[in-house]
Amino acid sequence: MSYDLVVIGSGPAGYVCAIRGAQLGLKTAVIEKDKTFGGTCLNVGCIPSKALLHASHLFEEAAHDFAGMGIGVSKPKLDLKQMQSFKQEGVDGNVKGVDFLFKKNKIDTFKGTGKITGPGKIEVGGKIVEAKNIVIATGSDVTRLKGIEIDEKRVVSSTGALALDKVPAKLLVVGAGVIGLELGSVWRRLGAEVQVVEFLDRILPGMDGEVAKQFQRILEKQGMTFKLGSKVTAVDTKGKTLKASVEPAAGGKAETVEADVVLVAVGRVPFTQGLGLKEAGVELDERGRVKIDDHFQTNVKGIFAIGDVVRGAMLAHKGEDEGIAVAELIAGKAGHVNYDAIPNVIYTYPEVASVGKTEEELKQANIAYKVGKFPFTANGRAKVNKTTEGFVKILSDDKTDKVLGVHIVGPDAGTMITEATITMEFSGSAEDIARTCHPHPTLSEAVKEAALGVDKRAIHM
Ligand code: FAD
Ligand code: NAI
Repeated sequence: MSYDLVVIGSGPAGYVCAIRGAQLGLKTAVIEKDKTFGGTCLNVGCIPSKALLHASHLFEEAAHDFAGMGIGVSKPKLDLKQMQSFKQEGVDGNVKGVDFLFKKNKIDTFKGTGKITGPGKIEVGGKIVEAKNIVIATGSDVTRLKGIEIDEKRVVSSTGALALDKVPAKLLVVGAGVIGLELGSVWRRLGAEVQVVEFLDRILPGMDGEVAKQFQRILEKQGMTFKLGSKVTAVDTKGKTLKASVEPAAGGKAETVEADVVLVAVGRVPFTQGLGLKEAGVELDERGRVKIDDHFQTNVKGIFAIGDVVRGAMLAHKGEDEGIAVAELIAGKAGHVNYDAIPNVIYTYPEVASVGKTEEELKQANIAYKVGKFPFTANGRAKVNKTTEGFVKILSDDKTDKVLGVHIVGPDAGTMITEATITMEFSGSAEDIARTCHPHPTLSEAVKEAALGVDKRAIHM
């Protein structure tokens, strides 16, 4: 069997790449080692986590907010089995969607681990598939901590934390990153006492510092507790209750923290096991990622790589855009990804969303900037809905007014960040946002007001 394009891995980077390739007339196949298509994102990542975030948020709202709006309901009862089925139905629906799209686009599929055996040759399930172009889209795996074994029952990664069949009385989260805060929120809402241990002296490294500070206060108000500047060095699993040793990050006396479940969420690492990269001569970088040039080409001609397995943010939409770009390049078109305008969203309540530079990054790069900020306490829709936590912050170039970064803490921040991303994609200014008519009453008016605020002329503040 011979193809123009063979994609190894069917996560968001791989399946999107295959579809775009097929659209452009390339004879395309996909190889996937797991039972279902869709990769981490659809099976054990974005999709199931958002289902549980949605359901647990409504559970919390029903318990705490309905009465104030005049909706009388008895105290909601958790049926975790049903909530997990709700999640699984959502996953199945999405996974089936990929199956359908492969068929619709006449993409051949091979189940099994793909191993590159030579230029243009991949072995899968004892067969050799030939390809003019190979795209590696094998994704990432959980980072493990030395000496702490993940059994996915009591000491879990995100995968186990998405599948618990009982709400833990005490959940200890290691790592105040995206997974720790999203899944920590799920289990706190469902009744767990959640403590987060973070190595650094702040949560969400890489996010704007002011955003992270305010967001930590919001999470603390919700009941989550934080131990910053600390690390978990061991988990004793012998007893009925887990005993975690928590040490100051700089070293020193350890204390014991008891928990029913420990969630290890300290990042993810590129996954290249079984691919045969060494034999194929494909170079990796110092962090184990497949090395690529600006056209996603590895050091071996005809072998490309995209998604979590290469440099850059480990985000589904970043992988998808790379999938489209590489397919277009292979088909002789001008594929491109603008890495300066990739949004980042944390789907907690409220949501946190950002695109572009943080204040810390601008200061470090010595770029003079202006700041426009608008709190949701002054937004009509947020006020009437009583969802006033958070703010919008727009950073624009001091001289040209070009938008350099936008940071939002607030309900629906993940949807609102898109207008900022489009503005950045078009090299727009804060003035462009300020002069754009925004519908009233919407939360998005806070984005317009923050843009007006860049020039100190916000109306409602
Ligand atoms: P993957 O999705 O990891 O897919 C790689 C695929 O390749 C897998 O199916 C794997 O089985 C297959 N594979 C690997 N090796 C081989 C081989 N040799 N042969 C055949 N097949 C192979 N990102 C967001 O943008 N938004 C979110 O809300 C979000 N939530 C997340 C929540 C969690 C709990 C986690 C863990 C991640 C989340 N992410 C989120 C990150 C997102 O899942 C990843 O960025 C995305 O899945 C990366 O896509 P990918 O296609 O590069 O790799
Ligand atoms: P992360 O990189 O976001 O956060 C890991 C955290 O663990 C960091 O704050 C880090 O300082 C801390 N840490 C590292 N070692 C530690 C130790 N020994 N003890 C205590 N803390 C330690 O990684 P996370 O949360 O595991 O997520 C992995 C990736 O998945 C993310 O980078 C993100 O790209 C993706 N993701 C995206 C989501 C989204 O877009 N909403 C949701 C979930 C995951």
